[in-house]
Amino acid sequence: MKETSLQCLLILISLLSCTTHQARLTVSPSSSQFFEGDFVSLSCEEDDSSAGWTLRRNTSKQQRTQCGDGWGRWSGSSCSISYMDPLESGVYWCESRDGPISNMVNLTVTGGSVILQSPVLPVMEGDDVTLLCKTKTTPSNLPAAFYKDGSLIRKQPTGHMTIQHVSRSDEGLCKCDISGHGESPSSWITVTDKHTTTPPPTSTPPPASTSPPDFSCVPLSLFSLVLTVSVISSVCVLVLVVLLVLLVRRQVQRKSEWSSGTADVALLINY
Ligand SMILES: *[C@@H]1O[C@H](CO)[C@@H](O)[C@H](O)[C@H]1NC(C)=O
Ligand SMILES: *[C@@H]1O[C@H](CO)[C@@H](O)[C@H](O)[C@H]1NC(C)=O
Repeated sequence: MKETSLQCLLILISLLSCTTHQARLTVSPSSSQFFEGDFVSLSCEEDDSSAGWTLRRNTSKQQRTQCGDGWGRWSGSSCSISYMDPLESGVYWCESRDGPISNMVNLTVTGGSVILQSPVLPVMEGDDVTLLCKTKTTPSNLPAAFYKDGSLIRKQPTGHMTIQHVSRSDEGLCKCDISGHGESPSSWITVTDKHTTTPPPTSTPPPASTSPPDFSCVPLSLFSLVLTVSVISSVCVLVLVVLLVLLVRRQVQRKSEWSSGTADVALLINY
């Protein structure tokens, strides 16, 4: 009986202190497209640096390679790539030693002369989003045409377009075009529900296997600490009470045995 309560206690404690380590991958400058030669810094903003986060990527050439291992320079919790090459295009994510992964971002590097600067992270429903169409060589912004899922949505004289109060219907594969300079690669623009409080899902409707783990473990906050302490103390009190009852019962039994024994002796003496 003592063993099972101990097991229960252990399970409770491990449940209460179960923290899922989480990280969020951010990209600076914040864009999902880059020109060849650009500098990029990718940061794993983690809740627990002891979880041993690494930045990994899949490119068309190699899978699951780690920053600092043949590409990029890892320092603290960020990875910098000083010269983006088109071969660096791919999916990037942070991964902790014990498994959990962050959101994923798709980066596209072009050897061409036009990029679409679109949000690299999913945008929240209702927010405003600005897309910028940029050339590599011209510092000022030129007139640009914006396309979504293959069809023209707007032509803008200054090369940037703001979508106000985005909704789910604004999601899609976007690109832009600057006449005389060319077309940008395409990038996904993803809109998430306003209610999502957990780290955003990956930019596309992701297959279940690639979405970040979604355990609903209670983090070891002050609340659960207090709860743990009170559970431990109440279990301790219970165990003590049980022990006391057992002890008292034993003592009473012994006493009655002894007293009946002496009674017999007394009887014998009387005879
Ligand atoms: C990266 O590549 C590995 C191995 O091919 C694959 O299992 C994994 O799903 C890929 N991850 C992403 C995010 O594409
Ligand atoms: C990355 O881009 C590829 C190709 O456009 C797309 O299939 C994939 O779903 C994207 N992944 C993420 C995480 O955005």
